[in-house]
Amino acid sequence: MAYLVTGAAGFIGFHTSQKLLERGEPVIGVDVVNDYYDPALKEARLALLKKYPAFTFHRADIAEREDMEKVASLHPEITRIIHLAAQAGVRYSLINPYAYTHSNIDGQLVMLELARNLKQCDHFVYASSSSVYGSNEKLPFSIEDRVDHPVSLYAATKKAGELMAHCYSHLYQIPSTGLRFFTVYGPWGRPDMAAFLFVKAILEGKPIKVFNHGDMRRDFTFVDDIVEGILAVASGQPSGMAVPAKVYNIGNHRSEPLPRFISVIEESLGLKANIIYEPMQAGDVKETFADIDPLVKDYGFYPKTSIDEGIPKFVTWYREFYKV
Ligand SMILES: NC(=O)c1ccc[n+]([C@@H]2O[C@H](COP(=O)([O-])OP(=O)(O)OC[C@H]3O[C@@H](n4cnc5c(N)ncnc54)[C@H](O)[C@@H]3O)[C@@H](O)[C@H]2O)c1
Repeated sequence: MAYLVTGAAGFIGFHTSQKLLERGEPVIGVDVVNDYYDPALKEARLALLKKYPAFTFHRADIAEREDMEKVASLHPEITRIIHLAAQAGVRYSLINPYAYTHSNIDGQLVMLELARNLKQCDHFVYASSSSVYGSNEKLPFSIEDRVDHPVSLYAATKKAGELMAHCYSHLYQIPSTGLRFFTVYGPWGRPDMAAFLFVKAILEGKPIKVFNHGDMRRDFTFVDDIVEGILAVASGQPSGMAVPAKVYNIGNHRSEPLPRFISVIEESLGLKANIIYEPMQAGDVKETFADIDPLVKDYGFYPKTSIDEGIPKFVTWYREFYKV
């Protein structure tokens, strides 16, 4: 039995693979290592994973059917899939929309076909996103809420991924679970996200851009909590349903005002930010806040890390990694 983890060189895929390996589980990692952000960071994550003898890596594109069929045929031991590879980022979907259909739609289909053709697929767990809630005003966001009005192509592809997974669960009885992640941050984090952008700019003495004039709130979730949730879900499977497909939110269940997030970063760095306030950006949403009750009820998951604990951990990693 082994886990196939896609996006293993990415932020969440790296942490997920590492935790599985620490637990003694074999991991087959797949990633195309694209240059959406600095590939050197992805290579540095991979270098750590490659130290574990139970880690096997394939540099492959999940949307390339034949390449993925080859990976599956080389590893008949795969019984569980944690599918995290995707074109992430809301803002970039306005610049390069085809990257999103390629990785998030074509890639999702190839991964579902792969799951369908495995001798045994105990669980197909995949990343969705809080962005599917669009500009919904009812808070906290619940999996019972309608999510038919995405405000970015990224969100539309993530919602499409949920529909495709539901369809495959219905047609082929593949147990599938989609996890809607809420703004994940932490060590080895993504350079296009707020925590990274803010810390980098403040350390370089550059201004930070804050959108909607700072009137934004986010449910910031520390990466260790996300990984704990992913692994709790991946080691079980949806049961007792005609169609074994489920979707959950994974968030911190705290919606933090952006100015407070920035103050915690300032405190942690011992430096003041030079803030430039800007209007709301197209595709962005004003507030996110996760209702995580279903995940607590079904899997006993509860996030532990506040931004007061999580941000200093990110800052420590950043300063050590970039030697600043
Ligand atoms: N980080 C967050 O806050 C957040 C929030 C919501 C949802 N998500 C989702 O979680 C998942 C992981 O996100 P992340 O933050 O680790 O992003 P990431 O960009 O760090 O990781 C994604 C990885 O997938 C790889 N990849 C992209 N397209 C690929 C393809 N066609 N074939 C093979 N590999 C490919 C990239 O090289 C990258 O290493 C994604 O599905 C993302 O949409 C993340």
